Amino acid sequence: MSEHLPDALVQPARFAFTEANQAAAQQIIAKYPAGRQRSAVMPLLDLAQRQEGWLSRAAMDHVADMLGVPPIKVYEVATFYTMYNLKPIGKLHVQVCTNISCWLRAAPEVVRAAREVLGVEFGQTRADAKATLSEVECLGACANAPVMQVGDDLYEDLTYDTAKAVLEALMRGDKVKFGSQSGRQGACPAGGPTTLKPKPPAEAAKETP
Ligand code: FES
Repeated sequence: MSEHLPDALVQPARFAFTEANQAAAQQIIAKYPAGRQRSAVMPLLDLAQRQEGWLSRAAMDHVADMLGVPPIKVYEVATFYTMYNLKPIGKLHVQVCTNISCWLRAAPEVVRAAREVLGVEFGQTRADAKATLSEVECLGACANAPVMQVGDDLYEDLTYDTAKAVLEALMRGDKVKFGSQSGRQGACPAGGPTTLKPKPPAEAAKETP
């Protein structure tokens, strides 16, 4: 077994989807053409992870069984993508991107803030299980670098100060507005839009007295 698979001591003996998730799993599988059901492996792994917080060996075996594929086919997928957690993680999963765009835009400062607030290094979970810190390679929001992801939400255009403020608030249990933390709209230039500035004719006509 790969060293990336989890410690046998934390492995539950069995896994089963809840009734609601079992129905959701069947709906996911039904989206794929006959004979291609194995393509449902990624959404099923995601569903299992959302149910348990991480992907146990038993959960992967269960998904393999549902799809009628050898377990190794599921392990191959689960160990390839960093989105799957192969061991238990903290309540908050903080993933900081250190790939090229984020690095050039001061990702090390975001890493510094995360280490300070969470008190752990990459790959570690706090002793109180409140948070896990992970290093990831591109979160797909390079135009708003540097970026970190907490749970399903992206926090963009970070600095040391804003990253620290976001993480401190999340650790207190406060809600934080996700997206750009510099106030810019989406991924438009920092100084405001440079194209498509005139209003569409129909909208402009409405404003004409
Ligand atoms: S390099 Fe960080 S989001 Fe792409």
